[in-house]
This record gives sequence, C-alpha cells and structure tokens, in this order.
Amino acid sequence: METADTYTIVLTERNMGYAGQFYMVSKEGIGEAPISVGSGYGNPLMFSIKAVGSVTKGIMNDPYGEIGIRGPYGNVWPWKSYEHVVAIAGGIGIPPIKALIEDMQGHTSLDKLTVLYGARSPSDIVYRSEIETWKEEMDFRITVDKGDENWRGHVGVVTTLVPEIKEYNHGAAFVIGPPVMMKFSVKSLLDAGFAEDNIYLSLERRMECGIGVCGHCNIGRWYACEDGPIFKYSDTKEEPELFL
Ligand SMILES: Cc1cc2nc3c(=O)[nH]c(=O)nc-3n(C[C@H](O)[C@H](O)[C@H](O)COP(=O)(O)OP(=O)(O)OC[C@H]3O[C@@H](n4cnc5c(N)ncnc54)[C@H](O)[C@@H]3O)c2cc1C
Ligand code: FES
Repeated sequence: METADTYTIVLTERNMGYAGQFYMVSKEGIGEAPISVGSGYGNPLMFSIKAVGSVTKGIMNDPYGEIGIRGPYGNVWPWKSYEHVVAIAGGIGIPPIKALIEDMQGHTSLDKLTVLYGARSPSDIVYRSEIETWKEEMDFRITVDKGDENWRGHVGVVTTLVPEIKEYNHGAAFVIGPPVMMKFSVKSLLDAGFAEDNIYLSLERRMECGIGVCGHCNIGRWYACEDGPIFKYSDTKEEPELFL
C-alpha cells in the first residue's frame, strides 16, 4: 500500500506504453477502468491505483488475484518538443509523472524537468521512497494542503508553488489532478506567463471501450480515450465542461 487508500501493483509484463498513456485494467466479474502507465517504457508494467469504486476496490481486495489488461491507449506527454517542462500533479495524478521521469531518464537530462506535487496531507503522499531519490536527481517540489506535527515542508495547495517556477515560462507545463486543481493550476500558469499553447492537461472522463467506439468519454468534438487523454489548453479552453 502507498497510503490508506492507494496501492501499487507491478506486473511481470513490460510496459509498452509511454508516459501519459493508459491501459484498460479489468477485474473479472466486476468491470474495467482506465489506469495510467506508472512506469517508463520497457520497464516492468506498474499501476498505482486509488480505491474509489468497484474495480479499484475489487483489485485491492484480491491482491494475488488475476487482472486483465488491454492497451496501451491514448497519447503521450510531448516532452521531446520542449527545452523545459514543468509537471504539476495533484493527488493520484502522480503516476503519469513518475512514468514521465522514467521515460526521460536515459534520454535527456532531468534538468529539463521541474515537478510540483501536491498531496492533501503527509499521509496521502504516494511514492515516498522514490521522491527522496528524485529530490536528489532533479528539481522536485512537494507541498501538502494541510501538514501535521512532523511535516517540515511546504504547506499550501500546489498552485502556490507556481510563482516560484516563473523562470520556466518559456517551456511547457503538464497538468494532471482533480478538476479544481487543474483549473486553478491553469490560471496560475497563465499568470506566470506560460503560453496557452504550451499548457497540456490530462483529462479524466468515464470510459467504456478506451478505443474511440462507444462515445462515453467525449469532450466536445474529441474523445478523451483516442484524441487524449492529453489536450492542449488552447484547444479545449472553450469547452464548457472542461474541468468536470
Ligand atoms: C486516462 C485515465 C487514467 C487514469 N489513471 C488512473 C490511475 O493511474 N490511478 C487511479 O487510481 N485512477 C486513475 N484513473 C481514474 C479511474 O479510472 C477511475 O477512478 C475509475 O472510475 C475507477 O473505477 P472503479 O470501478 O473503481 O470506480 P467507479 O465505480 O467507476 O467509481 C469511481 C468514482 O466515480 C463515481 N461514479 C460512479 N459512476 C459514476 C457516473 N456514472 N458518473 C459520475 N461519477 C460516477 C463513484 O461514485 C466514485 O466516486 C484514470 C482515469 C483516466 C480516464
Ligand atoms: S471510451 Fe469509448 S469512445 Fe472513449
């Protein structure tokens, strides 16, 4: 278990997806849910999952049981197109950023990446041991909405860290997390001078097929499964239900 309600599973299969993509993960007799690739391409396939509903709780309650996977599906974080990337993750948005770090490792310097990670409280922080390593290898900043008696780090929502990274506003920003966090992250990034075209959002929608057939995941004229889950803010900003 990573936290009281979030767990990581590592499979024997290699990950054939890149950071930003997802697999449809199923538990027989229960159903299927989209789950992000949580490791770099070619590494053991890993998912970190928050137990919120039937599939995610079903997998947690049967840790040695079989699961089904199909994928990878969806598009990728376009990190290769930029000299610098600021990745902002809230809550269970962190696995695709772990995959991003692992995809970049070995291909480019991690100096190209700054990560801002926000968790609700110290006990909600996922990947504690990895974070200790990442802090030594790169600019990885973490904050909690509410601290506790042992917390010596930054306190405040993740958007409060954005003014600190203004110097990178010529590059890209990748944002993933709960809708309200994404909405206010975009506002802070625009205030800090990032261009609308360079802000990318990973949008979560309910999915059935994962391959552009059922129409369950639409965002305006797009399907989150096939055209996304990553979208440019400039392309989607007029969608009335962007931050659902
Ligand atoms: C591309 C993508 C990547 C994702 N990656 C991850 C990941 O790495 N880790 C992770 O933990 N999660 C991830 N998710 C989220 C995950 O797919 C959802 O939480 C999924 O719904 C869990 O399935 P479930 O059957 O356990 O929960 P569900 O039974 O689907 O319930 C999930 C939540 O949605 C609510 N809900 C149920 N039905 C509806 C409905 N019809 N309309 C609105 N709300 C409803 C429930 O009350 C509950 O709060 C990702 C989602 C997407 C789209
Ligand atoms: S989940 Fe079926 S079209 Fe996207």
